[in-house]
Amino acid sequence: MTLSSRRNFLKTSAASIFTVAVSSAITGCAQTLINKPLSAIEFKHGVASGDPLSNALIIWTRATTAQSNFEVTVAWELASDSQFKNIIRSGREQTDKSRDFTIKIDVQELAPNTEYFYRFVGLNTQSPIGRAKTLPINNVEQIKMAVVSCSNYPAGYFNAYTDAAKQKDLDVVLHLGDYIYEYPMGGYATENAENIGRQLAADNSGEIITLSDYRKRYAIYRTDQGLQALHAAAPFIAIWDDHEVTNDTYKSGAENHTPDEGDFFKRRAAAIQAYYEWLPIRPPMGEQSPQIYRTFDFGNLISLHMLDTRVIARDKQLAYSDYKNLETKQMDVARFASDLNNPNRQLLGNTQLNWLTSAITKSNAKWQVLGQQVLMTKMWLPTEIFSQSDRTKIPQVLKELVAIKKAVLANKAVTAEQLARVNTLMPYNLDAWDGYPSEREALYKSVTALNKKLVVVAGDTHNAWHGTLKNAKGESVGVEFATPGVTSPGMEHYLALNTAQAKQMADSLSLLINDLNYCDLSHRGYMLLTITKEQITTDWRYIDNINSPSYNITDQHQSVYKG
Ligand SMILES: [Fe+2]
Repeated sequence: MTLSSRRNFLKTSAASIFTVAVSSAITGCAQTLINKPLSAIEFKHGVASGDPLSNALIIWTRATTAQSNFEVTVAWELASDSQFKNIIRSGREQTDKSRDFTIKIDVQELAPNTEYFYRFVGLNTQSPIGRAKTLPINNVEQIKMAVVSCSNYPAGYFNAYTDAAKQKDLDVVLHLGDYIYEYPMGGYATENAENIGRQLAADNSGEIITLSDYRKRYAIYRTDQGLQALHAAAPFIAIWDDHEVTNDTYKSGAENHTPDEGDFFKRRAAAIQAYYEWLPIRPPMGEQSPQIYRTFDFGNLISLHMLDTRVIARDKQLAYSDYKNLETKQMDVARFASDLNNPNRQLLGNTQLNWLTSAITKSNAKWQVLGQQVLMTKMWLPTEIFSQSDRTKIPQVLKELVAIKKAVLANKAVTAEQLARVNTLMPYNLDAWDGYPSEREALYKSVTALNKKLVVVAGDTHNAWHGTLKNAKGESVGVEFATPGVTSPGMEHYLALNTAQAKQMADSLSLLINDLNYCDLSHRGYMLLTITKEQITTDWRYIDNINSPSYNITDQHQSVYKG
């Protein structure tokens, strides 16, 4: 039996116990499964729920078994109370090595805006209990969501997840990608791993390429207690970024994929298979399709559109180095500008963009929220900052530029040369929306024509950002909130800034980047969004330690957006 037919059958058999009569063929099959003895297994990777709808939820677990060549049978229960006195649905599920002993059940016919509890049972074993909630319908007063991204196991403990799990009344967790990283021990962000007890397993310490590699990487990550706690606390709505496949993935390759690592699409298929196995997600076109973009409606309050800016349609990132003359060291600005502004350059791609426009058109919700990976705010920095080959000079350059910018903003006299220093700008990250300006403008145009505004949430950079989205005419079309990474190092790491310098840099960037309102370059953490009809309150919660499981929230920042 294929997984999907097994799942459909389970839906039917579970429902049949409580609600409807079913055909004798299905009843016979259900009897067979119900009579199957439970297997001797362990639940080492916790439980999870995800992709809540107003009437359905995915619930997930993984069985660890010593008998890897055999199918295992697990029972599951979903109740309206944490003591399981009132069991609403129950059933048995089988899994095997063809899906890495993961178990995913799409529990249907549930009530809207309702809290449920679920657990799995093996022979003499029981999983932890998970809490989930279906989406509300009609008039909705408030929704609370945690927004997370970029958890790198060897870089530290997932204390941001631990803290998010402690938040009361979480409706959902948005995971914006980089749930895992593909690098080997000795690679990116692994330098502290041995000291803090976060090495990768010996049989998974290389760069991950095969299906078996990806599966083992998820298994390591899912031993983190913070991640297990957050999965058990609230349903995830997840999308991938690049590292679920490999660094700087685009539609036909990636920065971190070389020919000696085999066929890119084979690697991508393995990565996607493992992602679908390990995440509580309901891919809209089924688990054989890389199409992940989908919408979630929270009554009349929010339409949440989860986007894919990585796998389906992204054109290869531009690189400044391709436009630099090796002899003269001069940049071919005209050719760069022509390529950057090419109207055919795609990030979402036409199909996804049309789907998004149509979804926003159909929605009557107050807030149109885009859950996606890379920064959409125009992040253009004075070119002079890039051209510093000696990084130690950057703080002094920033100081000078800030002084000029402050004078400009105060209408004080500045020289033409000074003005040129703060107005000669370039996008700092061509992997973000800044590398795809024509499509960004097309999206802004559609949204403006619909008389709606965007609320974008982003991850990817490992730092916190709050920007105003402005179209080519400089008109506001919405706002962006970006979450810091859970553990992955941010800009302060690349620029080797100490805490004081990182704070100075953050203040400077907020002033020098026209559309940026706030940023933080010193902390790991996450965002908490409290959304009502009147406003969106974003709380950035910063973790003071990732080198052990103990931590404090020592810094926070809040912004209130009223639309
Ligand atoms: Fe990341």
